[in-house]
Amino acid sequence: MRLARVGAVASAALLTVALAACGSSEKTADKQTSSTDNKGALVGVTMPTRVSERWIKDGDSVKSQLEALGYKVDLQYAENDIPTQTQQLDNQITKGAKLLIIASIDGKALTTQLENAKAAHIPVIAYDRLLLNSPNVDYYATFDNGKVGEQQATSLLTGLKLLKADGSKGTAKGPFNVELFAGSSDDNNATFFYNGAMKVLKPYMDAGTIVVKSKQTDFKTISILRWDPATAQKRMEDLLTSTYKGGAKVDGVLSPYDGLSIGILSALKSSGYGTAAQPYPIVTGQDAELASVKSIKKGEQYSTIYKDTRQLAKTAVSMADAVLKGQQPQVNNTTDYNNGNKVVPSMLLPFVVVDKSNYQKELVDTGYYTAAQIDK
Ligand code: BGC
Repeated sequence: MRLARVGAVASAALLTVALAACGSSEKTADKQTSSTDNKGALVGVTMPTRVSERWIKDGDSVKSQLEALGYKVDLQYAENDIPTQTQQLDNQITKGAKLLIIASIDGKALTTQLENAKAAHIPVIAYDRLLLNSPNVDYYATFDNGKVGEQQATSLLTGLKLLKADGSKGTAKGPFNVELFAGSSDDNNATFFYNGAMKVLKPYMDAGTIVVKSKQTDFKTISILRWDPATAQKRMEDLLTSTYKGGAKVDGVLSPYDGLSIGILSALKSSGYGTAAQPYPIVTGQDAELASVKSIKKGEQYSTIYKDTRQLAKTAVSMADAVLKGQQPQVNNTTDYNNGNKVVPSMLLPFVVVDKSNYQKELVDTGYYTAAQIDK
């Protein structure tokens, strides 16, 4: 018994050594101290904003899961203000954080803080949004962002009945008037969502089945800085009063985030949509935020992308725990996330497309929301 245990411990130690020796991208673990040194260590967690619900859920989950492992946590929100976020990181470094988990506002704006972290031997995990133009990012936990974009576009096509739910050719012929929205240009994910969606939509646009009547299709023109719902609402209002003033109808809107979808629907409502005679166009979304799930239930917003933030938190926390113990975190992608300086080893999680037909199963039965929250 005893011998067997010693053997197991010895081989575990060997494995750790072997793991520590392999892979240059894992050199980040070089200066980390042993598990005992980091027991109960302080972890700095920075989130972009409380304006969007998902980041509150992310922050809460990361904090509680780290605390359950015995770590101390400094959780900060920057309310989408970059200087606030840089200051929060400066503070966490000064306070002696042993690891940083960062969901950035602007992926390129934190290079100095990342340099300081490196100088203080503090490893960094990029949370959901990749940190750009810096060698000082060790790991990245996110969802499969390219696929998110593809699925948003596919859901738009399904809503328009150009596709059936099983992905086969649908009953509708088109042409359909569709307007496109993209996320914040300083968020690396926004480009992934856009490229993924365009990959799916382009053949339909080329064939004339989908017509972007405004002709606004390039990323810069359609992107909404800081994912701001009011900016999206204003852009939709402008489109309605310019491109659609002659009476043409909007059949679909590609929206990459629920907050934008709510703004877009509100512009459409003011312009007379949302009645039996003139129903809302097919509007997509992302994050399964409560207001949007309610809207989907009512038949207004068509779909959203449900990303289980509890799972993302779990991934980031287990990465953090491994790094703090001098071990190698699990990753499943070492090719796609080049941050302009290096390819950051990443863990990409799956997500679910949610619409009226499955919100109960995916969001209520899984405990993400209670039925009462959605019914209220
Ligand atoms: C996230 C999305 C979110 C968006 C706006 C992106 O970085 O990946 O889930 O909808 O930010 O907060």
